[in-house]
Amino acid sequence: MITVKSLKRWRTLRAGGRFGGRSLGFVPTMGALHDGHLSLIARARRENDIVAASVFVNPAQFNDKKDLARYPRTLAADTKMLAAAGADFLLAPNAGDMYPDGYRYRVDEKEESRLLCGAYRPGHFEGVLTVVLKLLNLVKPDRAYFGEKDYQQYRLIKGMAEALFLDVEIVPCPIVREPDGLAMSSRNLLLNEEERAIAPALNMVLGSKASIPNMKKALAKLGFGPEYIEERWGRRLAAAKLGKVRLIDNVEA
Ligand code: PAF
Repeated sequence: MITVKSLKRWRTLRAGGRFGGRSLGFVPTMGALHDGHLSLIARARRENDIVAASVFVNPAQFNDKKDLARYPRTLAADTKMLAAAGADFLLAPNAGDMYPDGYRYRVDEKEESRLLCGAYRPGHFEGVLTVVLKLLNLVKPDRAYFGEKDYQQYRLIKGMAEALFLDVEIVPCPIVREPDGLAMSSRNLLLNEEERAIAPALNMVLGSKASIPNMKKALAKLGFGPEYIEERWGRRLAAAKLGKVRLIDNVEA
């Protein structure tokens, strides 16, 4: 696997002949990789000739500076995992290179980005869509893979690709769970032992037959700070805080 940190180098490499005529699958990430990410790499590996991943903790999508500072950064371990999973390229740029415009130019979606997570994290999806557009323009993949744990994110990225006529297939991939049902997430690394023991209850409650108000009550009783539980797009989606860690999940409604 070739790791490229300089965007100048990446653009030279991408413009060269080595990708010619071969399909390219892309898995954008913020690192702190887990089996959920590896399932995206495996799918990209099966469906494409070349696989590229990116690791970039995108400051523009963190509405809370403390959350950005806390976000786990494990590039050395991520690099090993990606190489072992069969990625051909890792793009790991820095924020200065990714935002030469100082984040003056942004992608703003005005409906779905304001709902659910967007209502609790103002500006979050603007940051996500902007960085994903930049990454897709840099990597120019045939297919890009996104986990359904971030279901609202997946919908918004797919919608952006359609609205802006991007020449890429946005591929949704199923949630990967721990044996106890907790959806895999880089943020799980931030849970302390006690929180980790409680965390699977989010999925259990969400999948139960209780009414939504009762689900919220049950979560609050267990120590969660529920933000929302809502049914949309054929899913029941939830976000809840456990200590300082914000967890999201969704199940079929
Ligand atoms: O889901 C993520 O890890 C991020 O939101 C993404 C899509 C890599 C954009 O920074």
